[in-house]
Amino acid sequence: MALRALTGIKPTGEPHVGNWLGAIRPALELASSYDTFYFIADYHALNSIYDADALRKNTLSIAATYLAFGLDPGRSIFYRQSEIPEVFELAWILACFTPKGLMNRAHSYKDSVAKNVEAGRDPDQNINMGLYSYPVLMAADILIFSANLVPVGADQKQHVEIARDIAERINHNYKTALFVLPEPKIDDHVKTIVGLDGRKMSKSYDNTIPLFLEEKPLLKRINQIVTNSQAPEEPKDPEQSSIFNLHKLLLSGPEEEALRSRYRAGGLGWGHAKKDYFEALNARLQGPRKEYQRLMSDPAALEAILAQGRDKARAKASVFLDTVRSTIGIR
Ligand code: TRP
Repeated sequence: MALRALTGIKPTGEPHVGNWLGAIRPALELASSYDTFYFIADYHALNSIYDADALRKNTLSIAATYLAFGLDPGRSIFYRQSEIPEVFELAWILACFTPKGLMNRAHSYKDSVAKNVEAGRDPDQNINMGLYSYPVLMAADILIFSANLVPVGADQKQHVEIARDIAERINHNYKTALFVLPEPKIDDHVKTIVGLDGRKMSKSYDNTIPLFLEEKPLLKRINQIVTNSQAPEEPKDPEQSSIFNLHKLLLSGPEEEALRSRYRAGGLGWGHAKKDYFEALNARLQGPRKEYQRLMSDPAALEAILAQGRDKARAKASVFLDTVRSTIGIR
């Protein structure tokens, strides 16, 4: 039987080129060699999004994004976390085996406390239990489907390790191999996707290239990539160029080499380099852009796809949860 890969997507806003190349593309590639589970982690987003319309809209938008980039709901199981009640029951069970100290050491919680302390505020200010217990819910997401592999960004690695730790405790207590121990899979070039200003592409730096801009605003955005003041005829160092570093992610090995040589040879001005990148990117985004718009204008079709995923996911989750319950003595 094929190994299972599972990943959750937090619906927190407009997806950008960094999300695509760093997370969406590598996650979707796994569908050719694993049994794949993808879900929208809407109850994880409730941690920080308290606007009902925004949460609803982000959820549909991220679902449409994954589908537009090729998620095949016939082959993978694609669902909303909130539609799988078994996940939340398992989260409680896991919480009863989770040492409080383990949660105290979770990076995102620790970072929030550190920021408060630095600013002279109460250490717990604005920290809700959803943030504190975030890793427990994430462990339930993973363990309920016995995932072997969990593709995540580097910032989520600790959360997968926590899931593993909790699973081991329960297995050990009941002398069973009930829970599969998950492995994180970190895609290394996630770190190296640069934004318009040369820093990591991130919404918090306002340096992103959103995925579904129309052509004109897309070109305008690409023209904002920061360059140095070298004249067109001067040879350029491709490795130092944000344009090159973005463009190469769309190329095969030999194409990347050819582009590298063009930068080094001189005669390629920055304006031209941006236009070349725009053309390559636009060619790749045209199809998904259309499909995204089609799906967003047909929410019923999107809901139907998610409902199909929910049914498949729940069928598996409920069988597994029954086994968990009987293992721990709940019925
Ligand atoms: N915490 C992840 C993030 O912020 C999203 C997520 C929720 C997740 N549950 C998951 C990822 C389970 C992998 C597996 O990106």
